[in-house]
Amino acid sequence: MTSKELRQKYLDFFKEKEHAIIPSAPVVPENDPTVLFTTAGMHPLVPFLMGEKHPKGKRLANVQKCVRTVDIDEVGDNRHLTFFEMLGNWSLGDYFKREAIEWSFEFITSEKWLGLDPRRLYVTVFEGDEDAVRDEESIRIWQEQFAKVDIKAEPVGGDKIVTYEKRIVPLKKADNWWGPAGETGPCGPCTEMFYDVSPELGEIKDTFENLVKNFRLMEIWNDVFMEFNKKADGTFSKMAQQNVDTGMGLERTLVVMTGKDNVFDTEFFQPIIRKIEELSGKNYDEEESKVPMRIIADHLKAATFMVADSVVPSNVERGYVLRRLIRRAVRQGKILGIEGAFASKIAEVVIGEYKDAYPELEKEKGEIIEELDQEEVRFRQTLEKGLKKLKEIVKKKEKSSGFAARHRKDFGSKSIDFNNLISGKEAFDLYQTYGFPPEMIREELANFGMGYHKNEFDEEMKKHQDLSRTVSAGMFKGGLADAGESAARLHTATHLLLAALRKVLGEHVSQKGSNITGERLRLDFSHDKKMAPEEILEAEKLVNAAIEKNISVKCEEMTLDEAQKSGALGVFGEKYGDKVKVYSIFDFSKEICGGPHANATGELGKFRISKEEASSAGVRRIKAVLE
Ligand code: ALA
Repeated sequence: MTSKELRQKYLDFFKEKEHAIIPSAPVVPENDPTVLFTTAGMHPLVPFLMGEKHPKGKRLANVQKCVRTVDIDEVGDNRHLTFFEMLGNWSLGDYFKREAIEWSFEFITSEKWLGLDPRRLYVTVFEGDEDAVRDEESIRIWQEQFAKVDIKAEPVGGDKIVTYEKRIVPLKKADNWWGPAGETGPCGPCTEMFYDVSPELGEIKDTFENLVKNFRLMEIWNDVFMEFNKKADGTFSKMAQQNVDTGMGLERTLVVMTGKDNVFDTEFFQPIIRKIEELSGKNYDEEESKVPMRIIADHLKAATFMVADSVVPSNVERGYVLRRLIRRAVRQGKILGIEGAFASKIAEVVIGEYKDAYPELEKEKGEIIEELDQEEVRFRQTLEKGLKKLKEIVKKKEKSSGFAARHRKDFGSKSIDFNNLISGKEAFDLYQTYGFPPEMIREELANFGMGYHKNEFDEEMKKHQDLSRTVSAGMFKGGLADAGESAARLHTATHLLLAALRKVLGEHVSQKGSNITGERLRLDFSHDKKMAPEEILEAEKLVNAAIEKNISVKCEEMTLDEAQKSGALGVFGEKYGDKVKVYSIFDFSKEICGGPHANATGELGKFRISKEEASSAGVRRIKAVLE
């Protein structure tokens, strides 16, 4: 089975079960600066899980590209990734536990679909606590499924040992409760499916924890029964509707389907790893090359997708995560002995492998290559400066202590003279100013037979973290709401800008794309010439005039047909369902749109276009801010 076939099978299965297939959302949540990345398929669906009507109906399915960095330090083992694809199906107040579990079982085990062996399938359920009861219903439904194929399935007993007969494992909230994606929102108990990837090891007889830790069982799918809303005070209330949110890991499921035992041996990674072998002249099968190659492949794949969705390296938020991923990869490249810049070469392989499923990669190829190249060059320069600094520190230390630092070759690789440690503060400076990760400082110093004071370093680190926590706490206190409001204002400004451009440049102008962060808007629109400076000024003037009039922003619900008849502009054509929202700003602007928006244009402040440039053939891109 190939990845393409697996994606298609999943979507076909849920189409048969009357689900509408929706496109993958970007890895950066649209118009939502309050969360960093789309970590699961449910993320863009939160308003609909909370009760808003989805234009495509109550049953949805898709393949969602996700970025999750919580497990970043785990990457390199056999299954953790920062970028992955999630196969998901949703019930928005429609079917609940019975159908969700029956369909999961059918898709996994039926010969018509994945045809996996039900005897190798093990499941977990929520064991209950003060917030919600033990999920007896799911246990019963699972037992019925296994009974269909003559498997007697019982929950594990007091000894907690999982066996062939005791394949249902009740677990606490930490394991079997999913969500909310942010601090508050939809969540609920879940049931997870695990597959035995090493049946040749004989009968299963161990605690669930050990079976997972030793990679005997691999999690492949999670069905969440989202009927609770977690509130800001930490309590849970039942929502008006009972939802299902499921997520099946594409990479892990392909592992299981192809009889492998780790995600890096699948087609998702092999072409990338071959390229790393070629660039480094090292072999993936050598023990010391394996982990660095896995880290490079994972991190640069995530970075490629992030840049395609408009993230650029920086020192804050999303940009910082991207920077960290690229720099960690470059560092691993150095360990493998890769000479010269290589990140964009890996990105080219990623683009080649994924462009059919995600055409935006090909479209943004130029941008991806440029950003990765620039960031790698910047990092390599910083590294060089840092190494120079490190050598200065070593020299100083030699002088003051009379200790002659020798190169590792002469010194013996592991011997460090503990009388010759540089101070934690000096080491921390290398970390903070030159971006040296601690393990790198350790290795570079070891080349001179030296080390650093670890306790002092940890103290410096702690001071620094406390400081940045205080800063970010401040940011989030007032910041979260502000960021949301600022996005709404920029969204309204985007509507005004589009209307202004149609006045200044002509009616051929239509929106080709939009992206909003807390700080700026970005609008791609059809127009085949560079805008003249006076056209830019004129567009700004029109938007600012509309702002000064403080016009209220009106929202109406109507059918798509009515909306089109009323002259509202639409952007994404077939993405709409029967009922749509139309936002209008007096006679200036009228667009089909999901919101949210400012209440009136007066809230926007002063509008300024900060950049006008080419986006692709026949499409221009404007970046603008509100000041
Ligand atoms: N949202 C659920 C998860 O990510 C399905 O596991």
